[in-house]
Amino acid sequence: MRATVGYLALSAALVADLTAAFPVMPRGEQHPTPDDYYISLGPRPYYLIENMTESPLKSKLESCENGPFEITAWSIGHRGGGTLMIPEETVQSTMAGARMGAGILECDVSFTQDLGLVCRHDICDLHTTTDILLRPELAAKCTQPFTPANETADASALCCTSDITKDEFMSLCSKMDGFNATATTPEDFQHGVPFFRTELYDTCGQVMSLDSYIDLVDSLPGYRNFTPELKTPPKAVPMPFNGYTQAQYSRDMIDTFIAHGISPERVFPQSFTPADIYLWLNEYPAWGAQAVFLDEDGDDPANFTTAVNRLPALKASGVNIISPPINYLLAVGGPNNDTVVPSDYAITAKNAGLEIISWSFERSGPLTRVAADDDYYYSSIAPIMHYDGQMYEVLDVLGREIGLKAMFSDWSATVTYYANCFGFKGPGNE
Ligand SMILES: *[C@@H]1O[C@H](CO)[C@@H](O)[C@H](O)[C@H]1NC(C)=O
Ligand SMILES: *[C@@H]1O[C@H](CO)[C@@H](O)[C@H](O)[C@H]1NC(C)=O
Ligand SMILES: *[C@@H]1O[C@H](CO)[C@@H](O)[C@H](O)[C@H]1NC(C)=O
Ligand SMILES: *[C@@H]1O[C@H](CO)[C@@H](O)[C@H](O)[C@H]1NC(C)=O
Ligand SMILES: *[C@@H]1O[C@H](CO)[C@@H](O)[C@H](O)[C@H]1NC(C)=O
Repeated sequence: MRATVGYLALSAALVADLTAAFPVMPRGEQHPTPDDYYISLGPRPYYLIENMTESPLKSKLESCENGPFEITAWSIGHRGGGTLMIPEETVQSTMAGARMGAGILECDVSFTQDLGLVCRHDICDLHTTTDILLRPELAAKCTQPFTPANETADASALCCTSDITKDEFMSLCSKMDGFNATATTPEDFQHGVPFFRTELYDTCGQVMSLDSYIDLVDSLPGYRNFTPELKTPPKAVPMPFNGYTQAQYSRDMIDTFIAHGISPERVFPQSFTPADIYLWLNEYPAWGAQAVFLDEDGDDPANFTTAVNRLPALKASGVNIISPPINYLLAVGGPNNDTVVPSDYAITAKNAGLEIISWSFERSGPLTRVAADDDYYYSSIAPIMHYDGQMYEVLDVLGREIGLKAMFSDWSATVTYYANCFGFKGPGNE
């Protein structure tokens, strides 16, 4: 690891020099990827294509088997980009997403007790994504310490980034998200990852602060962009937190990028909370212009039409990028009701002039099981999902029919392969 750290430090210094010489990278221009840096996609895209039924799409994808594969901002590394197999929000997941060609890498931004900003998907997920319960001195600080399972109740705990300091957070080991509901000890509680993921890399994933994430992404070979998501605090962490307001938190996230000399063209700040988006639009217009409004307000079928109908008003209020999960964008249609087609949501968003980024590919496991397992991401098309080769048919509806601006994935190779095959370069490079 020492050599890697030295290399990263050197690269960061070089990038800092370049940034000083060319303070704003013109939109659409990329740092060249070094000649000796190769994008590596592994066997999974080939497995998926092999499982497709014959079609022009399958032939086209087969024709791209030998690349060349380049970094593409159309491929966003979700929680890093190696999240299917590698602990999320870590150096290792980010490096995996980068190696698989993701041109935008995600950090979910949470805050610590001393108001440090760190990468963690939920402010209160430390008990399922880290080894905190195995650290007695830190476990004692959890909002709710470990409670063993008994005859009537599951094992539980609730540990939040806001329970500990940034230094304490940085001492944790990351693991795959999961827990064992029948555990009677903290050791047993560590396991329980979904069957299609793996604990192979639960070997102390390296956690990141927002600062260390920015330095890492900026030092990676090739031109890479950032998508930080400001997490909405759960009920267990009422805002303001010891006087720290949601507004200050949303400013602090952008100010961290400014302090690192990152230009706004390279950053896609996300939030589910409308007030965060409007604060950025008002106070940081260049950053707000590419803020990503995450939408889950149509989850209740009774509210879906309302979520569709408000899209034009969102655009009129200054939002440029809407980001729903893929199930909002897809519907079953065609002459025989057996084809994936754009949904009313997708059509309305496009007609309103909104750009669309969606999430998250490769979070669902085998498509053979989506109906039986009540999978969320394929829920709107579950009756016609039967085998893994259909993933690229779904991605093609999102990519070429709906015209997505970019796509989040838990395994970046799958999306990078598709984007390269169709020449999708992603935001800033269209
Ligand atoms: C795709 O995989 C399924 C099993 O999940 C199999 O039944 C089917 O025959 C495969 N299709 C092709 C074209 O390989
Ligand atoms: C089981 O644990 C819950 C809390 O997790 C507790 O409220 C309950 O009393 C326990 N039941 C027994 C039989 O110990
Ligand atoms: C879950 O916990 C129970 C009780 O401690 C244990 O018997 C079981 O082996 C655990 N399962 C896993 C997958 O660790
Ligand atoms: C649906 O909309 C109603 C009315 O706005 C709201 O009270 C309710 O919380 C929404 N349900 C969900 C699941 O968002
Ligand atoms: C397709 O499904 C829709 C909605 O369930 C229904 O209204 C329509 O009649 C169906 N069309 C065909 C050709 O089956």
